Amino acid sequence: MNKQPLLEKLQLGPIELNNRVVMAPMTRSRANNPEKTPFDIHVEYYRQRASAGLIISEGSQISTRAVGYINTPGIHTAAQVEGWKKVTQAVHEEGGKIFIQLWHVGRMSHPDFHGGELPHAPSAINPHSKSFTPQGFKETVTPKEMTIEEIKQTILDYQKAAKNAMEAGFDGVEIHSSNGYLLHQFFNRTSNIRTDEYGGSIENRAKILFEVIDAIKEVMPEDRIGVRLNPSLHGIFGMTTDEETIPTFDYIIEKLNDYKLSYLHLSEPFNDVSDIPHAVTQIAHRYRPVYKGTLIINASFDQERGNQYILEGLADAVAYGKPFISNPDLVERFAKNAPLADWDTDTFYTPGEKGFTDYPKLTVSKSI
Ligand SMILES: Cc1cc2nc3c(=O)[nH]c(=O)nc-3n(C[C@H](O)[C@H](O)[C@H](O)COP(=O)(O)O)c2cc1C
Repeated sequence: MNKQPLLEKLQLGPIELNNRVVMAPMTRSRANNPEKTPFDIHVEYYRQRASAGLIISEGSQISTRAVGYINTPGIHTAAQVEGWKKVTQAVHEEGGKIFIQLWHVGRMSHPDFHGGELPHAPSAINPHSKSFTPQGFKETVTPKEMTIEEIKQTILDYQKAAKNAMEAGFDGVEIHSSNGYLLHQFFNRTSNIRTDEYGGSIENRAKILFEVIDAIKEVMPEDRIGVRLNPSLHGIFGMTTDEETIPTFDYIIEKLNDYKLSYLHLSEPFNDVSDIPHAVTQIAHRYRPVYKGTLIINASFDQERGNQYILEGLADAVAYGKPFISNPDLVERFAKNAPLADWDTDTFYTPGEKGFTDYPKLTVSKSI
């Protein structure tokens, strides 16, 4: 392909992206220090990948209560803000842009992270999943149903985290409302059986997302806020689709049009849902006509399909996850139609540089 749509610039609100190749948010569990602060190796990791049109950082907890995985960095303390400042500065020095993903795992956690207290969730329903604790993988437990007061506090935690993100020099924030974590748990009937204003109807189950956006809007421009959704998630991260799941996402995505957000980031199904009666198999096809703003699409895209989706108007940009782990220069490789290096799943979440900052760029062959 001569002219690749993936390599064209994209205007994202006030921000101009050099290309439409987005680095998807990926937890890498390298913040193995007591403060859960990004440090030198994070600076190097993100700097290496700064030729992405946009980097979306690994999920970063908005409070100590929001944690559910070992050694994930936070964005709720002064030390964490200082750590992230070095990361954003490095990415900007290389001409890149970076958003931080604001994360609360809800019930996908374990009492070991909370001094023995139960994780918080919309309802007391065990996801029957695993939590990656300092002592290894453990079975999840039945969480504590959040009080209204705790919900309001959590919304304030998102707001504070967004404020911190601006201070740390991020170009924007992505609200992690997908993949079975807290906000997604509110959307779904199987994880939310509340009978108050946050449960029952579709509008009530979606309400918290809009309250989070409204709270964040108070501390930063709306066109620097992105939202991530995974409508057809089924059978993983404790989520199950039912007959109201897709109507809920229809409602949410339609309502997001009321905002002038930076973007909506959607995932195609993570697994084969063709036999699942209530799931949609082609997310971009369903939601591109619905959402009027900038759309980023993700999950299992290669170079060709990414170019195709943009060419066909199914998305404005494509987020690549695993390919960015093993190809820090993914954009250059696409530009040269060069082969991609394989990723090593064994080092996705292990501490240190191995499998993090030691993937080489393309070697430049010198002609004699
Ligand atoms: C190691 C790893 C960590 C991930 N962590 C996150 C995360 O923190 N937040 C998130 O929204 N998605 C996370 N994901 C999902 C990716 O953003 C992406 O949706 C997924 O890898 C599919 O895209 P791909 O096929 O291009 O890899 C993670 C994926 C991987 C492989």
